[in-house]
Amino acid sequence: MEIVIAPAADLSHRAADAIVSLYRTNPQAVLGLATGSSPLGIYDAVAERFQSGDVTFAAGQAFTLDEYVGLETGHPESYREVIIRDLVSKVDLPLEALHTPDGTAGDLSAASQVYDASIAAAGGVDIQILGVGTDGHIAFNEPGSSLASRTRIKTLTERTRSDNSRFFNGDITQVPTHCLTQGIGTILEARHIVLIATGKGKADAVAQFVEGPVTASCPASVLQLHPHVTILVDDDAASKLARRDYYVYTYDRKPDWQGL
Ligand code: GLP
Repeated sequence: MEIVIAPAADLSHRAADAIVSLYRTNPQAVLGLATGSSPLGIYDAVAERFQSGDVTFAAGQAFTLDEYVGLETGHPESYREVIIRDLVSKVDLPLEALHTPDGTAGDLSAASQVYDASIAAAGGVDIQILGVGTDGHIAFNEPGSSLASRTRIKTLTERTRSDNSRFFNGDITQVPTHCLTQGIGTILEARHIVLIATGKGKADAVAQFVEGPVTASCPASVLQLHPHVTILVDDDAASKLARRDYYVYTYDRKPDWQGL
């Protein structure tokens, strides 16, 4: 894994650069999008680049990681609506090119298989943006998830529901108990994974998944096995890394660094 420690705004611009370069090389590229607050700076930076005419997503496709089960279509906190609000509405990606797991499906298992098949049919994800939960989860793969898992229904932990209750008027009882999520095996098929984590609240999770053992108890740790992963962290999120100095790839300390 390459670990980049820099101020949050720099991190967002680095990730946006990678996305813009990808689309300039391949206008039909496939983006993997994460919800949550961590990637918001990246999406704002991407939207700015689009507005200044640097990039188009008109021929692209995007797949989100996960979706709550039980929120009606169009619910403002459904991840489909969130990602439309945070990114898709600000660029020219056609809405029909935005794919999200169908958390309203009658047969959730079939919907999960259809989702994995649609990612494969699109040729796989070129750049996957990821956040990480305070317990080390990626997408909604909570601790204990199979490291080879595919898209499926999962039960959310109390901790994740509590973390996410801020989007539901601070009321955990309004947070769904289940979700559909890309599996860890699905996520690992992306060709380049870019995980962003900022703030002290992520420091323990970052230290565990970067420097701890690869274990289903900390799902993000499986990223250690992927051939092309970039971890973008600010000083706070990096604060518990033991080998912190080794990882510091800031512009001034590693001026020849070529980007993500
Ligand atoms: C949710 C999402 C994850 C996200 C995590 C962290 O559980 N399913 O994809 O990474 O929250 O969110 P945040 O970036 O808001 O801390």
